[in-house]
Amino acid sequence: MGQDNEPKTYRYNETPVYTASNGCPVMDPQAAQRIGPNGPLLLQDFHLIDLLAHFDRERIPERVVHAKGAGAYGEFEVTDDISDITIIDMLKGVGKKTKMLTRFSTVGGEKGSPDSARDPRGFAMKFYTEEGNWDWVFNNTPVFFLRDPAKFPIFIHTQKRNPQTNLKDATMFWDYLSTHHEAVHQVMHLFSDRGTPYSYRHMNGYSGHTYKWIKPDGTFNYVQIHCKTDQGNKTFTNDEAAKLSAENPDWHTQDLFEAIKRGENPSWTCYVQVLSPEQAEKFRWNVFDLTKVWPQKDVPLRRFGRFTLNKNPQNYFAEIEQAAFSPSHMVPGVEPSADPVLQSRLFSYPDTHRHRLGGNYEQIPVNCPLKAFNPTHRDGYMNVNGNYGANPNYPSTFRPVAHRPVKASQEHEKWSGAVIAEQYPVTSEDYVQANGLWQVLGRTPGQQENFVGNISGHLCGAHERVRNATYKMFRRVNPDLGARIQSATEAHVKGAPPARL
Ligand code: HEM
Repeated sequence: MGQDNEPKTYRYNETPVYTASNGCPVMDPQAAQRIGPNGPLLLQDFHLIDLLAHFDRERIPERVVHAKGAGAYGEFEVTDDISDITIIDMLKGVGKKTKMLTRFSTVGGEKGSPDSARDPRGFAMKFYTEEGNWDWVFNNTPVFFLRDPAKFPIFIHTQKRNPQTNLKDATMFWDYLSTHHEAVHQVMHLFSDRGTPYSYRHMNGYSGHTYKWIKPDGTFNYVQIHCKTDQGNKTFTNDEAAKLSAENPDWHTQDLFEAIKRGENPSWTCYVQVLSPEQAEKFRWNVFDLTKVWPQKDVPLRRFGRFTLNKNPQNYFAEIEQAAFSPSHMVPGVEPSADPVLQSRLFSYPDTHRHRLGGNYEQIPVNCPLKAFNPTHRDGYMNVNGNYGANPNYPSTFRPVAHRPVKASQEHEKWSGAVIAEQYPVTSEDYVQANGLWQVLGRTPGQQENFVGNISGHLCGAHERVRNATYKMFRRVNPDLGARIQSATEAHVKGAPPARL
């Protein structure tokens, strides 16, 4: 299991004997076998070849998104009884504790990119429950840029590097966003100061998606989860974030590690929003639309738990780089909703893990469930768990296995209709919550000004046609907002410094 990750071959108070990978002790690890003082090397020098060949294979693919991150272990504890709305084992009984792992990340940058970049933040959690690993693969924003999953690779390409120049490209960035207005709500989050959190400890996490939680009677509710930082929300201004990108690009990683090392263990309080299927049917917002929030005045938060991060990894690569989270890692009592983006993510994560870490990625200690028994999963590269020994590799009548009991009611949603392949249309509804956020920013002095400054400093690097399309989009959110962005951006274009991307 991931928590028990001390090196197995020696203890720190012992002096290990240096060996080649086959365990053979080596006389001088820094010497190569050669003929005479200046002669060529020998192919028989297993130690040297072993060393170089292993070094040549040190890199695995970085995550295609969320490549830069930091993580830590912790513990989740149930704080409030919610047994009326869930059968999830981990949530049964106030005081029940479950070990967990968290990985925070930026989204668009490469593995070496600065932590303080303007970007959403990933907030992934793995709970090692008695009934399997339950992953919450959340972001620090409650909404997302799209609701048509086929747009994800397209959108991500526009936020990464130009295929010719290999530079970040403001024209690509805004060309996509100004022509996909369903993204504007998330863009409002991104270009407010919330897009540059002070640290991983000072931000919230949100499921964004709607999930289904099964009730004790077998029926279900739709839910969304919120994890609120107990450290308080804290953000950088654009200038502070830019300064830190240059001075300490690993600030968030360092802050998390050092806080836990000092014993200042960060914690988050967890809440759930609940809608019955009947309420969801009548709700103003489509509960399967990831670009919308469920306003808390309509759907109040119900507290159920808290988690605290209290242990740093011993080895970053083994425990954080190799961690494999997936929204499809669910436990009894949780089911996916029909949200099309969630449905696509259920496939995409295990698929990318098989590419990045191999088909047996669940056997890597940090990803191992507390218990698992599936002797049909056989063989494959890096099979290191004994491969189920002599157990039959099919459902044999000679080795009966127990199954999860069938719950009272299996009847949930019923779907029928013609097959359609159309994008979800953009309507006037798509600007309403974005305008709501603009009004919220107006309640704290300076926040609207910062927002306009943050956008204009970036948008000024885009092509004129793209800039004009973007002004039009923000005018639809709020005419004043559109006008302010236009005048600030055009002032930059006429002589102010170039965009920082
Ligand atoms: C990482 C795909 C939307 C949160 C990733 C990775 C992929 C991916 C391929 C890399 C995983 C790895 O290599 O380990 C997608 C697709 C999406 C989508 C196809 C939409 C169609 C979202 C949304 C959220 C999210 C809506 C949050 C609500 C994350 C997080 C990580 C991640 C937190 C980093 C996990 C880690 O720390 O290892 N995503 N993603 N993604 N994604 Fe998504």
